[in-house]
Amino acid sequence: MSRTIELFPDVSAIAQKAAALYVEAAQQAVRERGVFRVAMAGGSTPKALHALLVAEPFRSQLPFDKMQIFFGDERHVPPDHSDSNYRMVNETFISKTPIKPDQVFRIKAELADTEKAALDYEQTLKTQFALKPTALPRFDLMLLGMGNEGHTLSLFPGTTALRDNGRLVVRTWVGKLFTERITCTAPVANNSAAIIFMIAGADKAPALKAVLEGPFEPEQLPSQLIKPSNGKLFFLVDSAAGGMLSKEWAAH
Ligand code: 6PG
Repeated sequence: MSRTIELFPDVSAIAQKAAALYVEAAQQAVRERGVFRVAMAGGSTPKALHALLVAEPFRSQLPFDKMQIFFGDERHVPPDHSDSNYRMVNETFISKTPIKPDQVFRIKAELADTEKAALDYEQTLKTQFALKPTALPRFDLMLLGMGNEGHTLSLFPGTTALRDNGRLVVRTWVGKLFTERITCTAPVANNSAAIIFMIAGADKAPALKAVLEGPFEPEQLPSQLIKPSNGKLFFLVDSAAGGMLSKEWAAH
């Protein structure tokens, strides 16, 4: 695994770097396999990236007709709900591109039965990636965020989703939010060709320091589970989130 940690002044500088990496990953995947399969992230940090990707100079470099859009996790709400990750990605990215509905694979989080939604998405991944029974999908790129207590995807501290049970997608009860989530598992993330964490805000500084410089305790800090087995890992961090890091990271 190759890991790069870069500090930037703010979210828009993170987004610039992420957009360049996104275009590079898309072009390379299309060159090599004719398709770019990306898992998009939820939360709010990715919005700045999406705004860049739909505008020049990035827009004309993206192979929209060869892209397949997936989701790393979803909140237990219908797709038109203000908390829906799909809704955010659709409003800020997909709807502003020529990407067609049959290129978009969303998690059916409107189902009351979250186990059904998780199994349904697992089947979607198996079908789209033409997987043999125990194989993992390999995303060309997975975008991730990190919560201020170290969660990523919907892998929250101390939850059942952290257990490696051979599943690609699981439902998970997140007690502190009193809600269910549906999430890809860490082994799925770790099989990606590239992973980009975008992390901004001073509230994330202690957890980020612990994730990168503290002992390996992923039950407390699930972001520590993210270690691609044969891929590149980028931490793009703003100076506020990176404010407690003690080592000398490359500054921009
Ligand atoms: C979600 C996410 C989650 C998110 C982090 C960071 O559905 O909430 O996928 O893992 O990426 O919570 O969110 P922000 O970018 O809003 O800080």
